[in-house]
Amino acid sequence: MRRKIAFSLVFGIATVLAGGLCAGAQRADQAWLKYRPLSKRLSVPMRVEVMGQRRIERSAASELVRGLRSLAGESSSDAGPDSIVLATVEELTREKRKSIVPTLEPDEFQISWSRDQSLRELDIVGGSDRGLLYGVFALLRHLAEGADMSRAVLRERPAMAIRWVDQWDNADGSVERGYAGSSIFFEGGKVRDDLRPVAEYARLLASVGINGCNVNNVNNAAPFLNSEMIRGLALVADAMRPWGVRLAMSVDVASPQKIGGLATYDPLDPAVKAWWNAKVNEIYALIPDFAGFTVKADSEGQPGPASYGRTPADAANTLAIALAPHGGVVLYRAFVYNHHLDWNDPKADRARAAYDIFHPLDGKFAQNVIVQTKEGPIDFQVREPVSPLFGGLTQTSQAMEVQITQEYTGQQRHVVYLAPLWKQVLDFDMRVEGSTTLVRNLIARKGGGMVGVSGVGRDAWLGSPLAMANLYAFGRLAWDPNLAPEEIAREWTGQTIGNDPDVVRTVGKMLMQSWPAYEDYTGPLGLQTLTDITGSHYGPGIEGSENNGWGQWHRADHEGVGMDRSVATGTGYAGQYPPEVAKEYESAATTPDALLLFFHHVPYTYKLDSPGFGGKTVIQYLYDSHYRGAAQAAEFVRDWETLKGKIDPALYDNVLPRLEYQAGHAIVWRDAVVQYFLKLSGIPDAQGRAGKYPGRMEAEDARLDGYQVVDVMPWEDASRGKAVRCDQKEPLQEGKQRSCSAEWMYEGAAGRFDVAVQYFDLQGGAAKFALTVNGRAAGANASWVGDAMLPTRRLHGDNSTRHVVQGVALKPGDVIRVEGTPDANDPAALDYVEVVPAGSDPH
Ligand code: GCU
Repeated sequence: MRRKIAFSLVFGIATVLAGGLCAGAQRADQAWLKYRPLSKRLSVPMRVEVMGQRRIERSAASELVRGLRSLAGESSSDAGPDSIVLATVEELTREKRKSIVPTLEPDEFQISWSRDQSLRELDIVGGSDRGLLYGVFALLRHLAEGADMSRAVLRERPAMAIRWVDQWDNADGSVERGYAGSSIFFEGGKVRDDLRPVAEYARLLASVGINGCNVNNVNNAAPFLNSEMIRGLALVADAMRPWGVRLAMSVDVASPQKIGGLATYDPLDPAVKAWWNAKVNEIYALIPDFAGFTVKADSEGQPGPASYGRTPADAANTLAIALAPHGGVVLYRAFVYNHHLDWNDPKADRARAAYDIFHPLDGKFAQNVIVQTKEGPIDFQVREPVSPLFGGLTQTSQAMEVQITQEYTGQQRHVVYLAPLWKQVLDFDMRVEGSTTLVRNLIARKGGGMVGVSGVGRDAWLGSPLAMANLYAFGRLAWDPNLAPEEIAREWTGQTIGNDPDVVRTVGKMLMQSWPAYEDYTGPLGLQTLTDITGSHYGPGIEGSENNGWGQWHRADHEGVGMDRSVATGTGYAGQYPPEVAKEYESAATTPDALLLFFHHVPYTYKLDSPGFGGKTVIQYLYDSHYRGAAQAAEFVRDWETLKGKIDPALYDNVLPRLEYQAGHAIVWRDAVVQYFLKLSGIPDAQGRAGKYPGRMEAEDARLDGYQVVDVMPWEDASRGKAVRCDQKEPLQEGKQRSCSAEWMYEGAAGRFDVAVQYFDLQGGAAKFALTVNGRAAGANASWVGDAMLPTRRLHGDNSTRHVVQGVALKPGDVIRVEGTPDANDPAALDYVEVVPAGSDPH
């Protein structure tokens, strides 16, 4: 029988197909799609035949050719007679191409070997063209990891229907909570002219099975429904369509009034309903595969149905009815809460809000509404309990929202691999009606799934190379929540960095240790990330979450710490879980220690008893975990250094200073939290570290020339609460900067040491620093410039930065001097210098 093949590709064509991208453009191969040449011969044929001609099938074929060619490296010219055949079930059935055609769901694929007369064929069959594309990416992933596919049979289908990323991009090109440059979608109030990065993003997303992308911020969404913007969005959809990624958008429920000119946006008003119907028709006329709307309403200042006494179900259903005929869905966010809570009210509790509001509405939502709930009841903290709402909606489709962009988890300046956090949530057993009810099964039901707030930008997608493991892991877990985070880390490392066993082991270990380390030096025991929640959400700010209406309270006082959320004496939040889980959280004795302070207010002397918590008191655990976490961050630097020469030098050089920075900032975190709780509790550290810093010389104690002593706010963000800054009082001659200096007489033992200078690196200027000993430069890197872009424009833990000069020879009587030259808004401020034994500092 003659083969009916749409086209057959051998090497060379790939260059043409992939050719649209010029050098320097933002590309998917800056992430994991590198297809680095393997040292061995590929275990699959090099000839690719495609039965269909649909756009996605062409993407699949070109990706396969590109991948094979690149993986095969030198041996790519020898194509051989065997083929890889790409086909959908429908094409195979129509063409009677195979004797057995598998039955597959649309996004499912099967990869298996067959024979056509004397030739071997590797068949990649998709339930649809998208399934086929996923099969191609799966094959390439296995090959890139060095797997032998010469006998392999694979059959996979996604666990969940919704596998979306959400971008919080604004029309002006800024990205809310994005830490990697400006938007790839928008610029100057409209869709960008150059959408090649969008196509590459879609390619990256498709490679891990993501099938939807919501492109605009949940805040300020109204302008996105203007007709001109919809025309622009149609181009974005066109760019993503070849990769099976459907466009979705956030909408403002007040749009009928804000941009539609109606007097009301009451979701039950017939004119409002008609407006939504017309708007949805307008969208589908241009974007026939439009995926749907995401809604943030009655939340953090966004308007909502509550203005008219209507419920979230009323608002969701009005949109859902408009979308239903076209196959679109509404992802209605359960992130609805009052941010003007009364802090003095012991019963007030933000954590209760989602369940209190949405549980009574179970069964009242239209079929195509999916309630999208953040994984925890507060807001992407370093650790929270699982949202009880997952167990509280039995008749409603649900999606779990997680955050890939690291808002509260180090903003990509800290390595924090989030897959273990997400996995814990997915594997959590809610015990609904007393039987096994894993969250991953709850969200997979009824067309639900997972949504990851991704925040990619123009700076290498997520800025930091290691942060890309989170985007990868999100897609993989939404596809298959049974995967282990270690396994995902191994896959990602193999494809991105290298298959050398040392590399895979070291990077895997670093990734797996990173979330626990970050939790240790920020907010352990369920305290949440102890950051300023009304500011940047980055550095330490322990009281930032107290005394305000935002409800992220931890209620630390002189006697104890934690928020009582029990039913008996607290806010009653624990009672929102099904009975078995509620019972566990109700008492401090049975609450896992990792979450103790989320559920209970206990004295600092309360003894922890969960395995791994060592029978310590709460206060001692707080001290110990912060020292342990900072030490772990320092170890990441040493781990990475073992990879020198084993990985791409550019990647090595890119990541090393990031890890050094993280290690220094972990010390800022450690010292802030430790000195805060030492002062508040008055209980000393049994290991004698808290409040004692041998080798540390405070800037405010130095002999100062030009520097002024100032208080830092919050006080715990500077050593002993004080720093010095060099302000220009008199106008200076053009081009001249006055510098200031701080001098200390060294009184310790003679020897070689590392000298750390803790300074504040403010935005809006590039202050210069120089460290000298007896008037001579202290080492090779003893002069540096503070030009990082760190949050907060005043002296703060956000911008407190450590610079280490290694191997400095010191003897008693030596004069250590730091000279700081301010620049524009950066006053070259100093906190302290610290002399530590050589090699013991993270840098
Ligand atoms: C967080 C974040 C906001 C965002 C909000 C949301 O609170 O800080 O920027 O708008 O989440 O999820 O809607």
